[in-house]
Amino acid sequence: MMGSVTTLNEFIIDRQSDFPYAKGELTRLLNHIGIAGKVVSREVNKAGLAEILGEIGSNNVHGESQKKLDVYANQKFINALQGSGEVCGIASEENEEIIAFDDDLAKNGPYIVSIDPVDGSSNIDVNVSIGTLFSIYRRVTPRGHRAGDADFLQEGTRQVAAGYILYGSSTVMVYTTGRGVNGFTLDGSIGEYCLSHSDIMAPPNGIIYSINEGHYIKFPDGVKKYIKYCQTNDPQTNRPYVSRYIGSLVADFHRNLLKGGIFIYPTTEQNPHGKLRLLYECNPLAFLIEQAGGRATDGYGNRILDIKPSKLHQREPLFIGSRNMVSLAEQMMKEYSPIK
Ligand code: AHG
Ligand code: MN
Ligand code: MN
Repeated sequence: MMGSVTTLNEFIIDRQSDFPYAKGELTRLLNHIGIAGKVVSREVNKAGLAEILGEIGSNNVHGESQKKLDVYANQKFINALQGSGEVCGIASEENEEIIAFDDDLAKNGPYIVSIDPVDGSSNIDVNVSIGTLFSIYRRVTPRGHRAGDADFLQEGTRQVAAGYILYGSSTVMVYTTGRGVNGFTLDGSIGEYCLSHSDIMAPPNGIIYSINEGHYIKFPDGVKKYIKYCQTNDPQTNRPYVSRYIGSLVADFHRNLLKGGIFIYPTTEQNPHGKLRLLYECNPLAFLIEQAGGRATDGYGNRILDIKPSKLHQREPLFIGSRNMVSLAEQMMKEYSPIK
């Protein structure tokens, strides 16, 4: 303890006994993710100075133009995770295939990590919050061998830890190991993440709805009905609600987690499976929200964490946030748009 402050490292070590099998491996891994996040945070904060803004001229696997910071952050996380010795491979939004480490130390690592190194890329150049998402599993292939796709295509229920780093007005790391959700704010003056949000619980109800309403015409009828519900005047239930949409999933999620709200990225005509990726966007946030007492579904009655992935970059629609809000949206989907 530094005075009354608990640092991320101290907290993780304190909680190590929650994991009889982990023997400090998960502790070291979470610390390494935090350190890579500090490096990225520093780059984000000087982005305008460092000529790191803008596009790099290549496309990623989704055909989206990659920003310099996407590539930079991806490399920082890959290096940190490989160096940790706890991780045998990584799946990243920025790489079409898994990255299976070849050195003996890493091949012996018990964990795999799926990451979205920079979430909210379109906001980088305009100084709006962005984030990093991570999801950690124990491998299913034997230690000492190269990691394989099977290690990554596990249901979200099998995550051992997950979280995000939000590069906002301050940098915050929020994670869970299945024993609640805690948040740590980076104090740049001492270079440490300090416990700032302990045992986060999502309010069961909220007044914020977050959805890209520009796509309204393409939404399923169930979503249109829910949006109209949010906009209806009913002071008894605090409606009309407040509409907030940053376009950085991590930032939209973090606000709704703390204040109460729902985030929806539904199926649309152009994206019949939604836009967000199951392994490194939907799953880590679904694990966090359930740990905080909220819900995450695909809008068609399926819990996100139960979906068995068949592809690394699989997309799923996402309805996530305060539990009663998600339940009502689900109910309207069931009534007006029962089929995907
Ligand atoms: P990424 O920058 O990692 O590609 O993710 C962008 C995602 C997510 O952050 C956000 O919620 C969503 O895209 C916004 O999409 P729309 O612009 O279609 O609303
Ligand atoms: Mn993303
Ligand atoms: Mn991204």
